Amino acid sequence: MDKFVIRGGEPLLGTVRISGAKNAALPCMAAALLTDQPVILENIPQVRDIQTTRNLLAAMGAEVELGFGRAQHRTSIQCANLSSPEASYELVKTMRASTLVLGPLVARCGRARVSLPGGCAIGARPIDLHIKGLEQLGAKIAQEHGYVEASATRLKGAEIAFDKITVTGTEDLLMAATLAEGETVLQNCAREPEVADLADLLNKMGASIEGAGTSTIRVQGVSKLNGAKHRIIPDRIEAGTFIIAGAMTGGDLNIAGCEPTHLEAVLNKLREAGVKLKINGESVRVMGDNPFTAADMSTEEHPGFPTDCQAQYMALATQAEGTSVVTENIFENRFMHAQELVRMGANIKIEGRRAVVRGKTPLQSAAVMCSDLRASASLVLAALVADGETILDRVYHLDRGYEHFEEKLRGVGAQIRRMGDVFGKK
Ligand code: EPZ
Repeated sequence: MDKFVIRGGEPLLGTVRISGAKNAALPCMAAALLTDQPVILENIPQVRDIQTTRNLLAAMGAEVELGFGRAQHRTSIQCANLSSPEASYELVKTMRASTLVLGPLVARCGRARVSLPGGCAIGARPIDLHIKGLEQLGAKIAQEHGYVEASATRLKGAEIAFDKITVTGTEDLLMAATLAEGETVLQNCAREPEVADLADLLNKMGASIEGAGTSTIRVQGVSKLNGAKHRIIPDRIEAGTFIIAGAMTGGDLNIAGCEPTHLEAVLNKLREAGVKLKINGESVRVMGDNPFTAADMSTEEHPGFPTDCQAQYMALATQAEGTSVVTENIFENRFMHAQELVRMGANIKIEGRRAVVRGKTPLQSAAVMCSDLRASASLVLAALVADGETILDRVYHLDRGYEHFEEKLRGVGAQIRRMGDVFGKK
């Protein structure tokens, strides 16, 4: 398994360009299942979860051409004949977002067989709200041998109020409702920018959706959807990761091609902690090595502070003067990075869903283990300021959601290299 070797101490200087958002690209690729016409998506990030989605769609009979290396990463997907509307355990176990095909398949094909995702490093993450919503749209659902079997002649519009705010749950039901008979009203929806981006694509495909990005979404069902071309929004979590990297290394870094309005909670919290930031159109500049002051932070659904930036913020809090309390409200087990940061010299106490971070603590290099996508990013940030050479194991977690991470970091001065598994296959 690949490792990263990072020598800390270099300020990040220059410009880094942000890629398309993984968490917008995945539902937009699933949306192509809703039509037999070609869907062209631009700005698709070159990350492993996109490859997995490609394999998932191809296994159902879709023609998918990933456009990496082409202008705008133009990717085309055509689902003319979906011979087998199924998402196998083999694929779903590697990426739980595969469950995003459930709603579109039932809506388009009248049936779907999708593996239940199983456990995850950051929490139980059930899909009961996806299933409950589809039943309210009239689908017959059975669970057998680890699979959800869903069927419906045609889905019927309904009023659905989510018991809990769920991002992919909102996206799954939104896609299903586009081809349902009549009107669907979704209440207590996720307001993440990725949901609005998906709705933008669906409306270009001929859907009739209002209110995406708010808590209430109205969908007038249509009998057929068409092809469309759509550019995926920038990745706000990747942007947040680089902004925190620039701050922690005391650099002068310009994060270009992002959407600052999608990052307000992160930018406000960083300012509160003393980070100097300048917004300039689609760029955020982070400057200087002014000391950070401790600031408590709680993760919330959008527009609150994103849980996907919690680990990166914790790394920054280890370098702040004072005590920061980090509260994780979305997932029940998202502090896997804390013990690895403690191995590097941080002072962090976990109390249930709260992490008490006492700083400032100088960090030292150590051998550390990546456990999930965002936890891995926080270890990279810590290694960039640690004294000595840190070795990060299992960086495949990072490859799932960060495009050319080490190249981008090296491009702004980081001392980072990837080591293939000398014993295993290169
Ligand atoms: C999306 O996951 C993102 N993934 C996650 O990003 C992100 O952390 C999460 O939203 C929260 O912002 C994608 O968009 C592909 P949820 P999702 O359903 O949709 C509970 C990353 O790092 N819940 O909003 O799976 C659930 O257990 C990833 O890029 C139910 O109880 O998250 C959690 O506690 C990690 N039943 C809460 O709701 C359900 O049916 C929010 O989860 C669904 C969710």
